[in-house]
Amino acid sequence: MRISDTGDRWWKTAVFYNLDVKTFLDWNGDGIGDFEGLANRLDYLADLGVTCLWLAPFYPSPREDNGYDISDYYGVHPDYGHLGDFVEFVRTAKDRGMRIIVDLVVNHTSDQHPWFTASREDPSGEYGEFYRWADERPDDATANMFPDVEDGVWSEDEVSGRFYRHTFYRQQPDLNTDAERVREEIEKVMGFWLQVGADGFRVDAVPYLIESEQGREHDFLRSLRGALTRRRGSAMMLGEVNLPYDEQLEFFGGEDGDELTMQFDFVGNQALWLSMARQNAGPLREALLARPELATGNQWGNFVRNHDELTLDQLTEAERYEVFDAFAPEASQRIHDRGIVRRAPGMLESDPRRLRMLYSLAYSLPGAPVLYYGEEIGLIENGAIPGRSAVRTPMQWTDGEHGGFAPAGTPEIVAEQPGEGAAPAQINVSAQLRDEDSLLAFQRRLIAAYRSSPEIGWGELTVLDAGHDCVLAHRLRLDGADFLAVHNLAAHGRSVELALDGLADETAVVSLLDPASRSELDGGNLSLELDGYSGLWLRLVPQGSRRLH
Ligand code: NOJ
Ligand code: CA
Repeated sequence: MRISDTGDRWWKTAVFYNLDVKTFLDWNGDGIGDFEGLANRLDYLADLGVTCLWLAPFYPSPREDNGYDISDYYGVHPDYGHLGDFVEFVRTAKDRGMRIIVDLVVNHTSDQHPWFTASREDPSGEYGEFYRWADERPDDATANMFPDVEDGVWSEDEVSGRFYRHTFYRQQPDLNTDAERVREEIEKVMGFWLQVGADGFRVDAVPYLIESEQGREHDFLRSLRGALTRRRGSAMMLGEVNLPYDEQLEFFGGEDGDELTMQFDFVGNQALWLSMARQNAGPLREALLARPELATGNQWGNFVRNHDELTLDQLTEAERYEVFDAFAPEASQRIHDRGIVRRAPGMLESDPRRLRMLYSLAYSLPGAPVLYYGEEIGLIENGAIPGRSAVRTPMQWTDGEHGGFAPAGTPEIVAEQPGEGAAPAQINVSAQLRDEDSLLAFQRRLIAAYRSSPEIGWGELTVLDAGHDCVLAHRLRLDGADFLAVHNLAAHGRSVELALDGLADETAVVSLLDPASRSELDGGNLSLELDGYSGLWLRLVPQGSRRLH
């Protein structure tokens, strides 16, 4: 039996929600979010319909890269609480039926990690081989991931006088994952977090993590998956692999599906934004059709935005500039000439119709949705904060000055207040909870509809001919049940005729987001009127079906 055929596949239809404890909710009033705050907001997340939390790195760290520079894999940064608070949070989340995945950042450590200290001090000692060292600066033209700050991937270490490799900032030396002992340590880290309640991992920077000169890359990933599955059969790994689809397939383990369980669909995300810019469904349609077929034990994670820049590096230069021109006209809204440091509402000028259509479209794509905290209320980036930090501002709970955060705190968190239109007075959870027409209420309905439509996570996809370039119509079929999504990316309304085959006579069409609306199919032909920037989620229910609708 294949490893990918084992275990409970809860993640196939999970609703993921990524948050950083630091910016979510501050409970003790020191201006920094903490585990106690998070535990106290789990009911809010459960009510939203979230089924799995993905926690950004919360470990001890000098935070040179927002916590993606870890100095101790077995702890909690004291600003957020301690391990006991983590376990309390786990208990509360499990009580609400929520699962938890944590970030596994093992391509590199912080340069403050004791392994690095030992490695640089004693090259022939126990930790000497833990990092990638060279006596002379290697002739290596590999581009650093942060080209605005770093001009290469090798830096001289002042302590040893030798050179060490770093794919990211110089404070993040790359671990030598070719070394057996490093691999063993990584397995222990995974084992630890599984034991204290994690259900899996979001795996950081996977292609770099398994970079190996010995052609053993995929052996490593396969053995990590094996280690994970031996410790908990239902545990999963959601990997960050921003590469073309054929390469992503290799990171799933090809048709065996025995490497990463899930991957973010970066190609689809970039196509989605190009489609948004063009008001033309073509790029997204092509991406959907180009997706490789996955083993049943694998899944795509679909997202609109994440905590990094909206990277557009897989588009051509001309396409990238179409998206830049449409959604990031100012140079300060772009980074590394490859991405946009804005959130979706900023890019769409808070047009409520367009924003709702975007989320409706994204969650209807085959796979499982991954939300970034604040998306549910339309949190906007803070353009006064440079770089990626613009999209990492505190969650806005109330209409007070700091949106529910104490006024003290680290400059990193509360220094720049969001401007007019983006401030807590205009965008906050508490107001939206009381408003049935709010984005939050809409997101809840959308998520509830996703959860009642297993076809989206499991079904077989057909992209239909909608007769208009601006309309995407796709159908997902599972065990004779049909889910149909139709989205109009353009500003003007459209009449759409869809020909649906394989349906029983007297099939009713139920609108999942607008339950009052029902229509009958006329011999397999469905006529729809779509408003500008709108989406429909439909369920086709044959007469006599026991499906609740
Ligand atoms: C990818 C993470 O998403 C990003 O935030 C981080 O800077 C790099 N990996 C390095 O860990
Ligand atoms: Ca706090």
